Amino acid sequence: MPKKALEKIIDQAEQRLELLKELGINSFPREKVEPIFRKKTLALKRLREEIGDCQRCGLAKTRARIVFGEGDPSAEVVFVGEAPGEKEDLSGKPFVGPAGKLLTDIIELGMRIPRSRVYICNVVKCRPPENRDPKREEISACQRFLKKQLDIVQPKVIIALGKHSAQWLLEKEEPISQLRGKWGEYNGIMVMPTYHPAYLLYNRAGKRELWMDIKKVIEYLKKGEIG
Ligand code: URA
Repeated sequence: MPKKALEKIIDQAEQRLELLKELGINSFPREKVEPIFRKKTLALKRLREEIGDCQRCGLAKTRARIVFGEGDPSAEVVFVGEAPGEKEDLSGKPFVGPAGKLLTDIIELGMRIPRSRVYICNVVKCRPPENRDPKREEISACQRFLKKQLDIVQPKVIIALGKHSAQWLLEKEEPISQLRGKWGEYNGIMVMPTYHPAYLLYNRAGKRELWMDIKKVIEYLKKGEIG
C-alpha cells in the first residue's frame, strides 16, 4: 500500500478515536463498532456541538465547563443525575467527585457492569453555584438536551438519581422517598427512581434501599420483565 494512503487511514482512525474519547468512551468491544453505534456516537457529537458555549441560562456566568455526559452511546442503562458539582465543573465529566466514586461502585461492584458500558448524564449540564438545587428556569433551558440524549441512546432502563431527576423524568412532584423503588416510564423507557449517591454519603441507612432498587433493575435486565 502506498505510504500516503496508509497515512490517510491512520489519520482517520485517530480522528475517530479522538471523537470517542471526547464522548468519554475509552474502550469498546469490537462488536459494538456497528452502524447503529456509529450513528448514535455521531448524533451525540452533533448534540454537543449544538449546545456549543451555551448561554441559555444564568449558570453560564458561573460555570467553568459544560458537563455534557459520557459513556456508551448504545448503553442499556442510563443514569440521570441532578447537576454537576465542583469536581465535575472543573473536569467537564459527570460524577467524578465523591458521589461519583459511590456511583462507580454501584455500577461496577453492584451491577457488575464496567462504568464505560453505561451512559451517565444530568438534568442540568452546568454547576449551580454552591451546589444549590437547580432552578425551574435552568431545568427548562436545559431539558431539551437531556430529551435528545435519551432519544439517541434509547436505553432499556433509566436510573433516576435523586429528586430532580425522578420528578423531571416521571413528571411528578412527590419527594424521592415516595418515588424511589417504584417503576415508572419515560417515553416508553422503564425508569427506576432511587436516592442520589450524594445523599447516601451522609445517610448510610439509605444504602439498603438503594440496593433494593438496583436489584430490581438487575432482575429486569436479566428477565426483560418486572418481577
Ligand atoms: N451530582 C450530580 O447530580 N451529578 C454529577 O455529575 C455530580 C454530582
